[in-house]
Amino acid sequence: MQPLEERIRSEARVPPDNSIKKDALETERLILRPLNADDFEAVHAWASDPENTRYMAWGPNDEAQTKGFLSAARPGKDFAVVLKATGEVVGSCGLYPDAALDTGELGWILRKAHWKRGYGTELGAELIRYGFEDLKLRRITAPCAAVNYGSFRVMERNGMRREALHIKAFWARADKIWIDEAVYAILAEEYREHTRKG
Ligand SMILES: CC(C)(COP(=O)(O)OP(=O)(O)OC[C@H]1O[C@@H](n2cnc3c(N)ncnc32)[C@H](O)[C@@H]1OP(=O)(O)O)[C@@H](O)C(=O)NCCC(=O)NCCS
Repeated sequence: MQPLEERIRSEARVPPDNSIKKDALETERLILRPLNADDFEAVHAWASDPENTRYMAWGPNDEAQTKGFLSAARPGKDFAVVLKATGEVVGSCGLYPDAALDTGELGWILRKAHWKRGYGTELGAELIRYGFEDLKLRRITAPCAAVNYGSFRVMERNGMRREALHIKAFWARADKIWIDEAVYAILAEEYREHTRKG
């Protein structure tokens, strides 16, 4: 009997090392490239802001925490979000694959001053494309505080559907209360259908 991980792997289409991992991605208005230590000032601006991190599972950060995040950031998984027009680093995002299950989990944060300009929707679309077309994932998911409209709309706009609502599962650190957490997901076949429809 093959071990479960090997069995899943042999039935899947994905190369075992996700070998088509890319360090940099591009959208109409954004470059997604590896984060590095020089991004400290930009990243700390949002990571230390309680409003900006209100519905994150971390933050607001002190300097050491932001430096720790930057030194743990990995090319192909964590990306700086850079505006093509100005070169400004306005956010970070990531796709974290679980090779054993051929799945990936999304995450994103943009500096407050840049919300509601469609950048979230744009980078979300590219991370999902990267996950399915380059990494050949089978399923992409993301949890978010159920009240985090901006985040779940980015997912809905990109064809993800709400598939679970966990009651009082998310600790809203700034508000010091337990709130509901929604889980969104999209399968490779749903992605193909979504992109076919445009
Ligand atoms: C989530 C986030 C990345 C969305 O990025 P964005 O560039 O503002 O999103 P878009 O401009 O593509 O907008 C998508 C939708 O969300 C709405 N929206 C975005 N930010 C919002 C906010 N802070 N409050 C209310 N609505 C918001 C937009 O109006 C739009 O709504 P619509 O679909 O009804 O037209 C951004 O709000 C953010 O960085 N939030 C803080 C960090 C965070 O919570 N990350 C997610 C953790 S799960």
